[in-house]
Amino acid sequence: MKRRDFLGRTGALGVAGLTGGLSAPALLLGARPAYAVGDDIPVGLLFSLTGSVAVVEHTLHDAALLAIEEINAQGGIHGRMLRPIIEDPASDPATYADRARRLMIRDKCVSVFGSYTSASRQAVLPVVEQRDNLYWYPTLYEGRECSRNIMYGGAVPNQQQDNVIGWAIENFGPRFYLIGNNYVYPKEENNYCKKLLAELGGEVVHEEYVPLGHSDFSSVINRIRTEKPDVIFATVVGDSDVAFARQYHAAGFDPEEMPVISLTRSEVEVQAIGGEAAAGHFSSAPYFMGHATPENERFVESYKSRFGGDQVTHFVSEAAYFQVYQFKAALEKLDPSDVTPQAIRDAAVGVELAAPQGKVLIDENLHTHLWPKVAQWQADGQANVILESTERVAPKPYAAYDGQTCTGSGLVNG
Ligand code: ACM
Repeated sequence: MKRRDFLGRTGALGVAGLTGGLSAPALLLGARPAYAVGDDIPVGLLFSLTGSVAVVEHTLHDAALLAIEEINAQGGIHGRMLRPIIEDPASDPATYADRARRLMIRDKCVSVFGSYTSASRQAVLPVVEQRDNLYWYPTLYEGRECSRNIMYGGAVPNQQQDNVIGWAIENFGPRFYLIGNNYVYPKEENNYCKKLLAELGGEVVHEEYVPLGHSDFSSVINRIRTEKPDVIFATVVGDSDVAFARQYHAAGFDPEEMPVISLTRSEVEVQAIGGEAAAGHFSSAPYFMGHATPENERFVESYKSRFGGDQVTHFVSEAAYFQVYQFKAALEKLDPSDVTPQAIRDAAVGVELAAPQGKVLIDENLHTHLWPKVAQWQADGQANVILESTERVAPKPYAAYDGQTCTGSGLVNG
């Protein structure tokens, strides 16, 4: 199905969502639980389909919707269909908060799936905590947060950096240049990177932040030329990363001499960068599209046949997909008359399922145990995995901060 048809269909689903899942008799009864037996199950999809982060978030939307459609095609959950209610927060953090409120209050969603950037997750957090609802967040993030109302599906710093920093020092040298966008995620990843460098004999030759959406990297390139670091450690996101990668390549830097190691560059950014400019550089992530497991082959085939043969899957869309299946597994443990966000959260702890990257597990802090990998980009836009953890790695959201641990609260970032 082409994207135009797809948007037409999802639009229709969004309109259907306006009834909020309650039939007329249910409304009259009033006291009846909103999610009682026989109703379908309303879930919110809160990914930007317009604006600056749509380039990545539309793929998260697609992956979550694909999982919902698959589950419905297999008969739903305890015979009840999932009813996706779609909102487009247009890449604006305040709009994420407003639409999340609408999904939870007006539409009575028992969970909302959404967001790429930490800025949008942090905007939703007070809303979801106030309603004691659940927000399934699929993206790698900086840690240092531990809400009882967010299901964290992506990697935290220890799950992306523990395997790669020592390896990079050994293979390329100890002098790191840190470049990221100017917001919480890159700064917190860099705090953890600096901790590991100090432990492993590395050093920071320069640390630099450019505004989100920044696209002129000429002064960064000049500084890199002067400093001659061994490794460029990058946490540049979205369109900015595309511009950075292209300009780095155009400057003639050789990835064999001075590679970029990115925590954010996936198949979707590489598709925009172009394989030739991305080739030879590295990313660290729990999933790459070429991962050879039956679960991943099914995911990739299903995604391509639904959204187009030229589409790519990547480490955030994979999590957007498997989180819907984690939600399903949690609901299957529940009495169908007790489907509330709180019951879903309690049932989700300990859920283990075979995701495309490997078997993932939700821990008591609502973070996910994952399978770290380091891969080198090829000219065809795919990644060749060169380091793969032999064990599933537990999340440590406070790894950069000795003595701090999860307290079950949300915005503790100082
Ligand atoms: C991010 O902002 N969590 C990539």
